[in-house]
Amino acid sequence: MGNSCMLWLLLLCMICGQGLVKEVKGLACNWGTQSTHPLQPNIVVQLLKDNGFNKVKLFEADPGALKALGNSGIQVMVGIPNDLLAPLASSVQAAINWVQQNVSDYVSKHGVDIRYVAVGNEPFLKTYKDTFLQTTFPALQNIQAALIKAGLAKQVKVTVPLNADVYQTDSGLPSGGNFRPDIHDLMMSIIKFLSDSYSPLTINIYPFLSLNADPNFPKEYAYFNGSAAPVVDGSITYTNVFEANFDTLISALEKNGFPSLSVIVGEVGWPTDGDPSANAENAQRFNQGLINRISQGQGTPKRKTPPDVYLFSLIDEDNKSTQPGNFERHWGVFNYDGSIKYQLDMGNGKSLVPAKGVRYLARQWCVMSPDASITDPNLANSISYACSYADCTSLGYGSSCGILDARNNASYAFNMYYQTMDQRKGSCSFNNLSVVTKLDPSQDTCRFEIMIDLRKHETASSLAGKIQTSTMGLILVLLLIIHGAF
Ligand SMILES: *[C@@H]1O[C@H](CO)[C@@H](O)[C@H](O)[C@H]1NC(C)=O
Ligand SMILES: *[C@@H]1O[C@H](CO)[C@@H](O)[C@H](O)[C@H]1NC(C)=O
Ligand SMILES: *[C@@H]1O[C@H](CO)[C@@H](O)[C@H](O)[C@H]1NC(C)=O
Ligand SMILES: *[C@@H]1O[C@H](CO)[C@@H](O)[C@H](O)[C@H]1NC(C)=O
Ligand SMILES: *[C@@H]1O[C@H](CO)[C@@H](O)[C@H](O)[C@H]1NC(C)=O
Repeated sequence: MGNSCMLWLLLLCMICGQGLVKEVKGLACNWGTQSTHPLQPNIVVQLLKDNGFNKVKLFEADPGALKALGNSGIQVMVGIPNDLLAPLASSVQAAINWVQQNVSDYVSKHGVDIRYVAVGNEPFLKTYKDTFLQTTFPALQNIQAALIKAGLAKQVKVTVPLNADVYQTDSGLPSGGNFRPDIHDLMMSIIKFLSDSYSPLTINIYPFLSLNADPNFPKEYAYFNGSAAPVVDGSITYTNVFEANFDTLISALEKNGFPSLSVIVGEVGWPTDGDPSANAENAQRFNQGLINRISQGQGTPKRKTPPDVYLFSLIDEDNKSTQPGNFERHWGVFNYDGSIKYQLDMGNGKSLVPAKGVRYLARQWCVMSPDASITDPNLANSISYACSYADCTSLGYGSSCGILDARNNASYAFNMYYQTMDQRKGSCSFNNLSVVTKLDPSQDTCRFEIMIDLRKHETASSLAGKIQTSTMGLILVLLLIIHGAF
């Protein structure tokens, strides 16, 4: 009897196992829009679909993005920026209005499959000091009340995306995990509330930042393929910081009476530029390891059920603050224009598909004039002017354009300005130090960009509009003339 029981169990396991392997889980990612030249939303939605992303997280209720996501089959987490926390905390009516305008309308009028509202973005980050400590929880409560009032609370869950610095471990091991003492009580209130409303906690985990913050951090431990010296925690052996970090949170939840609270990884990824350890090779290695785990449905030692994991990020954003570091503008799996940075196996042997239908400005660049001298007294000022308006983060030490000589360095800055200004007349002058060229100045890892043409599509429709108006005008004039003639 024992034997046949075992057999049945084995069979069941095999069936379940196969089911798990065969299920195409789909991928999730963050779509940020702090870009001087954002891709058209419908192009981004196609990019998501083409690459198997069926869940997306937005940092705010961007109307263009939300409308494009309507009837796309993609599930949406829509964020509330931190600066809205105070007004939403102090007024239920403000929360009702927010939900009405930014959730209900998109669900009912545009067919957007909104699943989560993310209240705030890492509001308890240590660097924000106490700014959002008082407002986050009341805002969360008010948004939940507004979702209930709108009849949406079943399908749309609330959550708060938090940085992993809300928990820590005094022993240095995941089993020692607990919430930061200064916010322990607040975390308990929020977690109880989330648990009571069947909502998940969202945590952002950044192995890159661990590596970046500590020169002694064991490099291999940041990646997933097990070549690092393992960290032994009781009966568990950790070979990567992602699992160790996630399980530190699980330990903290267990310790405080919420062992089965649902957890989402809201952001995780690796940048490709702006820092010596930020490059395509490292990002490919990290993200491939991550995607493999996701496609295999791999959990962590303390929680076998895999969490939803939102890659950070889909595309680069050249207008993000560089306060965290120059790498901040280079988290995309894709370049800002949806072109491919490095190849990835997205599961089932599918490779990355670039964005389709992107229109560019003319194939021309602004470079330092061959007649200009690098000792020109205006040069330094011109470069710093260009870089105050355009993104020069690739020029830093260890970055993709960090090895350029002084002349090419100036050219890079001039070109970024020229492109950011849409190649406008007069945007390649710089005290006569620059000229426009048709020869691509890109070299090795350093790519001299050409920006997206933001006007192309608009021009097509507005031109049609203009033609229509002038045709109408003409007819009117003709009618008047005819009328007058009679
Ligand atoms: C870039 O960011 C700055 C400051 O956050 C903002 O004022 C500006 O409008 C942004 N530019 C674009 C093109 O989005
Ligand atoms: C909806 O969200 C947008 C973007 O965050 C915000 O500017 C707007 O104020 C929100 N609407 C309401 C009624 O709060
Ligand atoms: C680790 O990953 C890298 C990049 O994906 C791969 O080249 C390497 O062979 C892997 N090493 C092991 C031991 O699996
Ligand atoms: C290149 O330009 C950047 C940004 O202005 C500057 O910090 C760096 O020193 C320059 N490097 C060279 C070699 O001129
Ligand atoms: C640039 O060159 C033109 C033609 O040589 C000259 O007229 C103009 O004054 C120069 N401008 C500057 C800012 O040097």
